[in-house]
Amino acid sequence: MKNIAVFASGRGSNFSAIVSAAKKGIFKANISLLVCDNPKAKVLGRAKKANIKIALVKRQDFPSKEKFEAEIIKRLKKEKIELIALAGFMRILSPGFVHKYKNRILNIHPALLPSYKGAQAIKDAFDYGAKVTGVTVHFVDEKTDHGPIILQEAVKIEKTDTFKSLEEKIHKAEHKLYPEAIRLCLEGRLEVRGRKVKII
Ligand code: GAR
Repeated sequence: MKNIAVFASGRGSNFSAIVSAAKKGIFKANISLLVCDNPKAKVLGRAKKANIKIALVKRQDFPSKEKFEAEIIKRLKKEKIELIALAGFMRILSPGFVHKYKNRILNIHPALLPSYKGAQAIKDAFDYGAKVTGVTVHFVDEKTDHGPIILQEAVKIEKTDTFKSLEEKIHKAEHKLYPEAIRLCLEGRLEVRGRKVKII
């Protein structure tokens, strides 16, 4: 079975959804490592509880981004990681890192890309007055929130929705969509041609 690393910086609800999907057999892989850059992140407690190895790698402990990423790569190699799932990892990986794991890094974004890129996508869609937003799982390339799209799901913004209720709907969609994208990827069913991902 392949080894997956999840990268997260915060709450970790997607991390937990991925761990529980693996347990349920929705996809066949080991969640072997959590990579986290934030010692205060809630996701750390979730990983401990689930008995998953943690690599807590703090940017401020390294003189450069290159050295910070070199440490992460060392930890990934040690655990023989073949697939990376970014789940609220609030750092941009360098082109060198992305190249090393080309088409083996997935990211989840809480909007229908290319709309509402960035760190506050749910709020941005809500404040903009959008009627529809959603969730995107995509391969990571050198540009932020940009790589080839694997799966998307639309989420309606009803007039009764508050920011909080929208956030809940988005997370619910994320927790279903991300394991599904991981499954397709692990089963070798994603063919990437330029920007297009063909599901075979
Ligand atoms: C998720 O909504 C994810 O889509 C988002 O961070 C949240 C993490 O929540 N990622 C981005 O905004 C990346 N641009 P979680 O820690 O509960 O999984």
